[in-house]
Amino acid sequence: MPHTPTKTLLRALAGESLPVPPVWMMRQAGRYLPEYRATRAEAGDFLSLCYNSDLAAEVTLQPIRRYGFDAAILFADILLICQALGAKLWFETGEGPRLSTITTPSELAALRPVADIHETLAPIYQTLRILTRELPRDTTLIGFAGAPWTVASYMIAGKGTKDQGPAHALKASDRATFSALIDILTAATIEYLSAQIDAGAEVVKLFDSWAGTLQGADFDEFAVRPAAAIIAELKRRHPGTPIIAFPREAKTRYAGFARATGADCIALDNSVDAAWAAAHVQVDGCVQGNLAPEHMVTGGAALVTETRRIVDAFRGGPHIFNLGHGITPDADPDNVQRMIDAVRG
Ligand code: CP3
Repeated sequence: MPHTPTKTLLRALAGESLPVPPVWMMRQAGRYLPEYRATRAEAGDFLSLCYNSDLAAEVTLQPIRRYGFDAAILFADILLICQALGAKLWFETGEGPRLSTITTPSELAALRPVADIHETLAPIYQTLRILTRELPRDTTLIGFAGAPWTVASYMIAGKGTKDQGPAHALKASDRATFSALIDILTAATIEYLSAQIDAGAEVVKLFDSWAGTLQGADFDEFAVRPAAAIIAELKRRHPGTPIIAFPREAKTRYAGFARATGADCIALDNSVDAAWAAAHVQVDGCVQGNLAPEHMVTGGAALVTETRRIVDAFRGGPHIFNLGHGITPDADPDNVQRMIDAVRG
């Protein structure tokens, strides 16, 4: 018999409507916090911080200590899996990620076998093990990975792009190579998330940040199908572990995404109207979101009004309060506390 969860985040994910929704924030450990900037300086750079289990656990805990969020998200990055598969990865200061590119069958064939990813990713699992010991007992530990399409878009372009043009171009010019890369990433993501759950992640989240640029049948084939395959296999191996899917900017395609993929919760970006989402997405289960991250910069009365509006719109069903995307480095840490007070007050 599965026992009834006591942690608020797990209760919402199990379908319970709570009088006060649990709350956490995408990128809650990040550059807007002075204590994060200090620990990152100690680590040297961002990737060294990701692979230093003690320091990665420390920055994961910082926002929990400061604000008492209901969940902690593992500190890592969606692009580490590319490195684990043999791609080169580095971060250019002020510009973002850079990778060696995969655009040909021979480059694809040169990737390391999926079974070998754990060699590189072992420190990430160690971070989770530390966190299972260090977190307050009411805080839920979330692991994550990028969805195949979003990760592929970086591997194909070798960097972030506005429109994922190089990935769309490869999909059009050499669909076999493109699909094979999606399949490799699907298999690797299953192994990565499964190992995170074994190491202590109580929930996992799949970030498909660029799902919104997939149109029509491409959305079904490269956003829905890989998510459904990953979730089906994770559910087989770890039946009790809830899964959050974030097909960012999916617009009307948010409706039905939980049913089509088996996700327990759909994370909504802030372009989605909360009343629409309550009627068309929350009908299938838990939703997460969806305050615009700009409010963490601008604050004021609008922050409180918008927070209350979202809480009220989702009051009729299971809801986890969050931003619609990651908090930005220019955010004011005091606004985060105001947002939490507005959710819980
Ligand atoms: O939510 C969390 O805090 C958990 C950790 C996490 C990070 N990145 C830490 C990070 C998670 C879940 C991610 C996801 C991620 N990473 C996504 C998907 C979500 C999204 O934001 O759309 C993507 C596309 C990436 C790739 C990535 N990582 C980019 C494009 C960048 C550079 C942009 C930027 O914000 O600087 C990163 C760097 C990154 N990942 C930082 C953090 C805290 C900033 C690194 C720093 O300290 O300089």
